[in-house]
Amino acid sequence: MSGAVDAVAELLSRARRVVVLTGAGISAESGLRTFREAADRQEQSTSRGGVPPTMEGLWKSFDPQKLATPEAFEADPEMVTRWYDHRRVGCLAAQPNPGHVALAEIERRVVARGGVFTLLTQNVDRLHQRAGSVNVVELHGSIIEWRCVKTGRKVTPGPGAMTEFPPRSECGALLRPDVVWFGEMLPETAVRAAQEAVAECDVFLSVGTSAQVYPAAGFIHAAARNGAKTVEVNKDPTPISPMVDWSVLAKAGEVLPEVVGRMGE
Ligand code: OAD
Repeated sequence: MSGAVDAVAELLSRARRVVVLTGAGISAESGLRTFREAADRQEQSTSRGGVPPTMEGLWKSFDPQKLATPEAFEADPEMVTRWYDHRRVGCLAAQPNPGHVALAEIERRVVARGGVFTLLTQNVDRLHQRAGSVNVVELHGSIIEWRCVKTGRKVTPGPGAMTEFPPRSECGALLRPDVVWFGEMLPETAVRAAQEAVAECDVFLSVGTSAQVYPAAGFIHAAARNGAKTVEVNKDPTPISPMVDWSVLAKAGEVLPEVVGRMGE
């Protein structure tokens, strides 16, 4: 692996325009659950007819992809908002891990030498921003902010758990998390920013994502078509592992600080 780490460090030391795409895996070492692992656990527990005793149990007994939908919110706004508020409070209590901090440092070094760095994240936890990343594009929105379903007005609930479910905005309409649900379009500004960054990048790094959800999973293919060098840092193999120039199968919180340590200033 150290050969690949050296090569990635060298690549990033010379890169002029870097794009990084992150997924739930980079927040795993901050104690936040990933999606597909949660879904895998869902198979185990529902096979035993598991009933979710707690919001925590909801992760194990329900497939997030069934809860993260407008239909689920329509059918049971109380359960969906309870689950999201449980996750929101968990995100606020979590701390950025060395993987987040390393990406913020890579951005600082690329920008300091006149380069351009864009961090595309599928995560809604805002740990990248708390770690110091600046140019962050939230492809799937943020769980830290919620919005009125009627006016679209955004609010940032306080750090403690909500006390009213489903929560309501000042006008009395329902509040929902400002995240992208399955079946919903990604924010136009985010997609445009991602496409522009991908079109011009010379290095594309995919970190902590199973590379299964589009359009995010398509960006690396566009970058490769444009001649960018591609790198994957992921704990397990994914559909893009065979196509990238460098595939590092390891934990982001362990590998990315090593890459930073071997990069030039
Ligand atoms: P997944 O749960 O699909 O994939 C997480 C990936 O991270 C897996 O491939 C793990 O092997 C890897 N992983 C776990 N721990 C890691 C670690 N410490 N270091 C490096 N890699 C690690 O999550 P995403 O790919 O982010 O969409 O899922 C994409 C989207 O599907 C999510 O944004 C969400 C979900 O449904 C929406 O909610 C719209």
